[in-house]
Amino acid sequence: MNWLSDNVNQLALLGAAAILILTIGVAAKYFKQIKEGKSEGELKEENWDGIGEYKNNSPIGWSLAFIGTIIWGVWYWLVGYPLNAYSQIGEYNEEVKSYQAKFESKWANPSKEDLLGMGEGVFLVQCSPCHGIDATGIEGKAQDLTRRFVSKSQVLDVIKRGSAALGNPNGQLGYQLGMMPPGLLSGADAEAVATYVANGFKGNNKGAELFQSACASCHGPDGRGMNGMAPNLREYDDPIISHVLQHGKQGIIGIMPSFKGRLTKVQERAVAAYIRSLSE
Ligand code: HEC
Ligand code: HEC
Repeated sequence: MNWLSDNVNQLALLGAAAILILTIGVAAKYFKQIKEGKSEGELKEENWDGIGEYKNNSPIGWSLAFIGTIIWGVWYWLVGYPLNAYSQIGEYNEEVKSYQAKFESKWANPSKEDLLGMGEGVFLVQCSPCHGIDATGIEGKAQDLTRRFVSKSQVLDVIKRGSAALGNPNGQLGYQLGMMPPGLLSGADAEAVATYVANGFKGNNKGAELFQSACASCHGPDGRGMNGMAPNLREYDDPIISHVLQHGKQGIIGIMPSFKGRLTKVQERAVAAYIRSLSE
């Protein structure tokens, strides 16, 4: 009787017995009624070819069962099976979550070597198919990650419209200075700074001067962002890498997909550290 030790089987057997007993009981009751029952009570007015119907209230048992079924149905839907159900996908997600939490706590304080090693691993698996094994990208386009490429049009656009896209209300991403106000410069001055920045902070004396007066207070005199006050315009800093990993990027030569949920925070930091190490 091995199968009887299973509680689901026990329940099923109990249910089958209950249904059998009920069926026999109810059938017996009605057979008895057919044999001995006498009709009594008030007839309704309607009459179908001589067949009438008594005025009966709904039986209490039936009414209770009806209401009970509705309540049970609501319970079943909201609390019982469907919405709180076991699901393979749910279990998988839970497992991934707990694995990632373990991973994050194991690497809560990674050394620089750990970060670089981890970053190289992530990069080779996840990023190199598009950015190339040595991260120089495809035919030297913008995907060359060994240097930070801020285009002239990007700088002009940011000067004109300001920038708040990299910020994040819960402070994990983004910069201490928050957003960059629009309209700091215009016309020829904006052009000069944009040329200077896009040119890798070289040449263009007017641009260099203007950068010192209009931009350096936040981005630092060398454009390296002063430890997270504002974006580092010369290297990929953590918030920019995180941002592109969270949101993906529409580039000139195609789309980079979002890596949201596919890399943990420490993996994002690691791949950022690895990318920075390539330009050192
Ligand atoms: C008041 C501080 C401040 C000043 C002044 C400032 N910036 Fe910014 N800048 C920021 C902050 C903060 C961000 C990032 C905001 C965001 O998108 O979340 C930013 C973003 C940028 C970006 C976009 C970076 C990227 O990869 O998306 C560029 C380019 C830029 N600044 C260039 C400049 C230039 C050129 C000047 C001088 C004309 C300048 N900034 C002046 C604070 C400043
Ligand atoms: C499917 C191809 C693809 C994969 C995979 C991919 N990228 Fe990209 N990535 C791109 C494209 C396309 C661009 C945009 C280039 C452009 O602006 O023309 C880009 C741009 C970037 C930029 C520049 C963002 C900026 O604002 O300047 C960074 C940083 C970057 N990728 C990092 C990564 C990292 C890290 C990985 C791996 C976790 C990765 N990418 C995986 C295609 C890819």
